[in-house]
Parts: sequence; structure tokens; C-alpha cells
Amino acid sequence: MSLRTVRVTPELQDYIVAHSGGTDPLLEELAAETAGRFGDSAGMQIGADQGALMTLLARVTGARDAVEVGTFTGYSSICLARGISGRLLCCDVSEEWTSVARRYWARAGLDDRIDLRLAPALDTLRALPPGTAFDLAFVDADKPSYGAYWEELVPMIRPGGLLLADNTLWEGRVVDGSDDEETRAIRDFNDRVARDGRVQQVIVPIGDGLTVARKL
Ligand SMILES: C[S@@+](CC[C@H](N)C(=O)[O-])C[C@H]1O[C@@H](n2cnc3c(N)ncnc32)[C@H](O)[C@@H]1O
Repeated sequence: MSLRTVRVTPELQDYIVAHSGGTDPLLEELAAETAGRFGDSAGMQIGADQGALMTLLARVTGARDAVEVGTFTGYSSICLARGISGRLLCCDVSEEWTSVARRYWARAGLDDRIDLRLAPALDTLRALPPGTAFDLAFVDADKPSYGAYWEELVPMIRPGGLLLADNTLWEGRVVDGSDDEETRAIRDFNDRVARDGRVQQVIVPIGDGLTVARKL
């Protein structure tokens, strides 16, 4: 098959960010603090280009309420909250990481629109009142649970709403013969989404791969 996607070099990545709304000083500071305090874990954060895309997707779909599974220090939550008109429910298990997120939500003027639940995300989702509905969901937590998150979230998304899932190319390991638990989980997740008649979907090769699925 012909390769239609350009190989993104570091220079090209900088160019993409510069031409995608540029860098945001608050998000840059958050990224720098995360890297300084948490080292390699900072690699879990989405990139500036993906953040800009997610804000745009939330806006163009007119999303009101959203849910995020996997918040870390808050980068993606700020991008999502800036794109929606209602509330964002954030699910995470780390008090330490999300305490950073809370500070930046306050500085971004978003703290009154974000609810953080510190508990395993499946427990949080399963405890939501019957009839809870969202316009957008973003999944970016433990990979083995992606399929379970999907099954909880799809029924809660309003028709025309979006489900986004991060890391769905898993640094290319989905096709390189890797056979560890996380790679198998991402492959199973991608197969599950591909055969799910409730959505229309595409894997966007941005960051580590972003699945964008629209609820039919
Ligand atoms: C990849 S990071 C999220 C990065 C974040 N979306 C961002 O762009 O900055 C994954 C997060 O999932 C959280 N997590 C892991 N297992 C979880 C679980 N069972 N329930 C809720 N959160 C979980 C971790 O604490 C971590 O903060």
C-alpha cells in the first residue's frame, strides 16, 4: 500500500504546532512542570497538536458535556474543557498527579466546570445515575481496560457525539508482532471499534494514534 502519511520529524512537529494555533503559555508551563517533576511519566501527556485537534473537535460538534478517563496532570482536560460549553467529568486514581491538574484548572479559569472523581474509572462510570449522557468522551488510561471503558461509554454518548481514544497505534506495536498484554489490549480494542455498528470511526495518526468515533 502506498504511504500517504508524511513522516513527522521533530522539525515538522514544531512546524505543525506553530501552524495549529501555536503554543499556549499555560499548557507549555504545565508540560514543563510535568516533565520536571515526573520525568518519563510526562510522556503520557498528549501533544500540543493533538490538544488543538481535540479542542476543535469538541467545538465543531457543539459538545456540551464531556468525560475524560485518565487525566494525569491535566493537559488534555484543559484542551477538552476549552472546547465544550458545559461540564467535564475527569476520572483518575492519582491524587498526586491530579493535584497538579487542579492548580492549572484554577489558573485556566476552568475549575468550576470540571468534576474530578478519584477512583478506578470503571467504578466511577458504573456509579453514574441512569440516564447520564455526554457529547464527548476521551479515553486515555490503563490500556487493558479500554474495551470495558468503551462498553460503558458508548451507550452514554448522545447520537452525533464523539468517542476519542488515545494511543491506538501504540508506537506501531499494533502491527509489529509484539505480544505483551498492553499491545494485545489495544489490538483487541481497535478490532472491537472496527466491528461496532453503533459508531463511524477513523484512527488519526497524530501523537500515538487517536481513534475518533462518532456515535450514530
Ligand atoms: C496516559 S495518562 C493520561 C494523560 C492525560 N490524558 C494527558 O494528556 O495529560 C493515564 C492516566 O490514567 C490514570 N489511570 C490509570 N489507571 C486508571 C484507572 N483504573 N482508573 C482511572 N484512572 C486511571 C493514571 O493515574 C494516569 O493519570
